Amino acid sequence: MTPLDPWIPRLLDVWRSARRRGPGRPGGPRDRLASDELKTVGAGVRRLSLGLTRERSLAGERYFDDPGLLGAYLLFYWPISFAQVTSLLAELPSRPRELLDLGGGPGPAAFAALGAGAERALVADRSEGALRIAKALAREARSNVTVLHWSGGAPPEGRHDLLVAQHVLNELWGGAPDRIARRAALARSLLERVRPGGTLLLVDPALRETSRELLELRDALVAEGVAVRAPCLFRGPCPALSRPTDWCHAERPWEPPRLVAEIAREAGLHKEALKMSYLALAPPGEGWERAPEGTVFRIVSEPLAGKGRRRYIGCGPDGRMGLALQDKHVGEENRVFGELARGDVVRVTGGEPKGDGIGLGPDVRVSRLARAGERLGR
Ligand SMILES: C[S@@+](CC[C@H](N)C(=O)[O-])C[C@H]1O[C@@H](n2cnc3c(N)ncnc32)[C@H](O)[C@@H]1O
Repeated sequence: MTPLDPWIPRLLDVWRSARRRGPGRPGGPRDRLASDELKTVGAGVRRLSLGLTRERSLAGERYFDDPGLLGAYLLFYWPISFAQVTSLLAELPSRPRELLDLGGGPGPAAFAALGAGAERALVADRSEGALRIAKALAREARSNVTVLHWSGGAPPEGRHDLLVAQHVLNELWGGAPDRIARRAALARSLLERVRPGGTLLLVDPALRETSRELLELRDALVAEGVAVRAPCLFRGPCPALSRPTDWCHAERPWEPPRLVAEIAREAGLHKEALKMSYLALAPPGEGWERAPEGTVFRIVSEPLAGKGRRRYIGCGPDGRMGLALQDKHVGEENRVFGELARGDVVRVTGGEPKGDGIGLGPDVRVSRLARAGERLGR
């Protein structure tokens, strides 16, 4: 049983009630869509996917005013956003007791945090339709969620253990030449509303453009002394920005619930992994956490093809560099190198500088300090 499982019947009930616009429990299977429903939702998801992640023509537009798109979002992207935040909460130093989900739409981040132990949440968004859905979900789950109209200006008053802005920053001021500066100003005012020990969690799609813009925002804040709780170990300007083709994102294995898998198939999409770009930021006055001892890297690539060797890109306190181990040098002390995944954190003991990276010889020891998504013990 995953934290998402109990939500599938609730999402379906709320979606069917909203479609019927009538009271009473709607009919229909509570774990899946009937075939005509699946066609409708699949078509909506195709439009959303095209408009938000490919052509980007919907980004920043009021697509939730279209009930078909809001419904498609609810049944397909809501579970993905929920699973992303559930996974990211595990990396924070403490579990939030309450939170603000800014640009939360129908509130997946809020409900994910409530599922992980939070007691109450505030969801703020400009879409009245999405906020109505968030309220209906809260009624279904008997959760302590309030909603607030927010149309992109100053964030609501009050301080919080956790503030989340998920898949919304990339939609704000899109196309404006000063969009990064304006997002940075918003992020600064959000950081001021984080209680000590709390976190501002920014999540955006794992696309090159949206990911690089999140990294630019990171650099602006880090230059002012803001500390990154995760995923960065490097404290300077993000090395992924030095080459225009690079970016940095997370990818976590995920078994989607049957509802999501069936919609994905209908819409012609793949959702076997959670992909996202994210930053967990500490409030002003809280420094970077101590880096683990030794030469440490977060793996920021998938395994890279190479003849007779395994290679990754790592990013650690000393920067971003290639890490390579020739097949003939695989042994007991470095065997884990062959099993690493994007997001894992490793310590490399005894590597030699080679080209623009580190070569791992037979005597090099590699140990995994944390798997992707685990909090790094310091
Ligand atoms: C892709 S949805 C993300 C919803 C939810 N946070 C998630 O991750 O699943 C983007 C949300 O940002 C909201 N949004 C976009 N521009 C906004 C603005 N200028 N002011 C307030 N909300 C905005 C939309 O209404 C929508 O709910």
